[in-house]
Amino acid sequence: MAAQLSPSSSSSSSTLSFSSDRYTRKCYCKQFSRVCYRAHSSIWVPKIFSRIHSRNPSDLNSSNGYPLNAVSLQDGSMSKPLAEEVPASRPGEAETTLSITVVGASGDLAKKKIFPALFALFYEDFLPENFIVFGYARTKMTDEELRNMISTTLTCRVDKRENCADKMEQFLMKCYYHSGQYSSEDDFAKLDCKLKEKEGGSLSNRLFYLSVPPNIFVDAVKCASNKASSVSGWTRVIVEKPFGRDSESSRELTRCLMQYLSEDQIFRIDHYLGKELVENLSVLRFSNLVFEPLWSRNYIRNVQFIFSEDFGTEGRGGYFDNYGIIRDIMQNHLLQILALFAMETPVSLDAEDIRNEKVKVLRSMRPLQLEDVIVGQYKGHSKGGKSYPGYIDDPTVPKDSVTPTFAAAALFINNSRWDGVPFLMKAGKALHIRKAEIRVQFRHVPGNLYKWNFGTDLDKATNELVLRLQPDEAIYLKINNKVPGLGMRLDRSDLNLHYSARYRREIPDAYERLLLDAIEGERRLFIRSDELDAAWALFSPLLKELEEKKIAPELYPYGSRGPVGAHYLAAKHNVRWGDLAGED
Ligand code: BG6
Repeated sequence: MAAQLSPSSSSSSSTLSFSSDRYTRKCYCKQFSRVCYRAHSSIWVPKIFSRIHSRNPSDLNSSNGYPLNAVSLQDGSMSKPLAEEVPASRPGEAETTLSITVVGASGDLAKKKIFPALFALFYEDFLPENFIVFGYARTKMTDEELRNMISTTLTCRVDKRENCADKMEQFLMKCYYHSGQYSSEDDFAKLDCKLKEKEGGSLSNRLFYLSVPPNIFVDAVKCASNKASSVSGWTRVIVEKPFGRDSESSRELTRCLMQYLSEDQIFRIDHYLGKELVENLSVLRFSNLVFEPLWSRNYIRNVQFIFSEDFGTEGRGGYFDNYGIIRDIMQNHLLQILALFAMETPVSLDAEDIRNEKVKVLRSMRPLQLEDVIVGQYKGHSKGGKSYPGYIDDPTVPKDSVTPTFAAAALFINNSRWDGVPFLMKAGKALHIRKAEIRVQFRHVPGNLYKWNFGTDLDKATNELVLRLQPDEAIYLKINNKVPGLGMRLDRSDLNLHYSARYRREIPDAYERLLLDAIEGERRLFIRSDELDAAWALFSPLLKELEEKKIAPELYPYGSRGPVGAHYLAAKHNVRWGDLAGED
């Protein structure tokens, strides 16, 4: 059951230092090798050099009331806080090894995202000197075969290609493979032996990334916990959604996981929180006087969270049909962004302070009504001599499936800041474009002196702030501007911060940031169990009603702009979808 605090789990007892990010992360960097050596020679030093500044471990409590330290999975009881247990240095234990095990290593996510993200961290010197990566899956494979498999998906930054081949080689030599069943404690015990052998008797911190279907989570956690957790350092587990299908199943999953892990060891990943512009959302709002005072019902008319993909569920129909777009995108990715957008100013940038504010927003939301939601499903379509399959043409999807591949919803936050402001969400697959953005539409200027210049449609004159999360990251503000010349003609122009023009460096993938955070014990961008509860509480009744009433989705052609119903829904709340205004 509940785990024991273990030595060397110091980094998590800390708060985020806002300004020190890049520099302190470099404590792992080889060019700081003297410093690094010190960092690795004492379990205390990472506290000092980590981007998160230290705080007395006993000061800080996690959501479940445990001190915010990573803990060993293997022991049965909570023990005294770390500070009292760990000597400042341990003779003969100068080195710490970070062991990362990717469970489900032969799957798509691991190949496309996790190994490449780990390599990117290595390439940028963000991983510690001593690290190893293990792939674990049922497929029989040798170390060499794993290396060959992942080498095809590793890429170096476009903006920095020096030593790319060498770096890849070095990284691959740190990658190993162990084949085993997800529910076999014996197989995990064998993994443990291999981990120990590669760790070479050093202190070890172990990170397990569960890149496996949800029905395997608990078995894998149980086996890792009982047989392969670190005895000398911390052990953490990253889990990918879906975290259940509704409130009950999610709570049950949490309950099962917490038989083997403490809340502090569980890193529930929502990769949208790792996206650069989502990370920037709070910076934009809280560090700019031109925005911060406007962030309320007094100035904002509505906010839109839009997710659109120009491809269908290709190859994922089996998974998707059991979840649908509301669970796949809205209940997590879009809702998380909404919570960050709408939260009150947190006391600090500490993970718990931020997550406390997010939970408050989620719990203040009005229960979602069926009449505030529309659902759609894409159908086959031919265009330019090419035909595109409908959702139910996927052989893994039942022909009579009513699972939505598109949904739009109007949500409301019942608090004094946001009372009456519609927060619209729209998410769809097989639409005309791939894009994710946040659009903030402001109110009319009262008594606008120039209203005659705008014609009859005053809505066209309101300001709109757009954060384009992807592709081609940008932040732009639509303003009214005088067209140069002797007359007085106004137009809508953009104040445009286009990332590729402004910043030369490549934007890291969301998984890089999140993996690094998990390694550093930074929980700010991971979902706490009470956040998850609140998110499910909002969507579960709606999902139940949709499924019980078998609400038929409105069909829309593959590659179109989605169901017309989305326009009616917006119009009902006096809103126009910004992405369909044809101005961008
Ligand atoms: C995943 C969903 O969480 O996010 C997928 O399960 C979706 O259906 C994906 O395609 C989108 O992620 P990104 O980062 O490509 O926008």
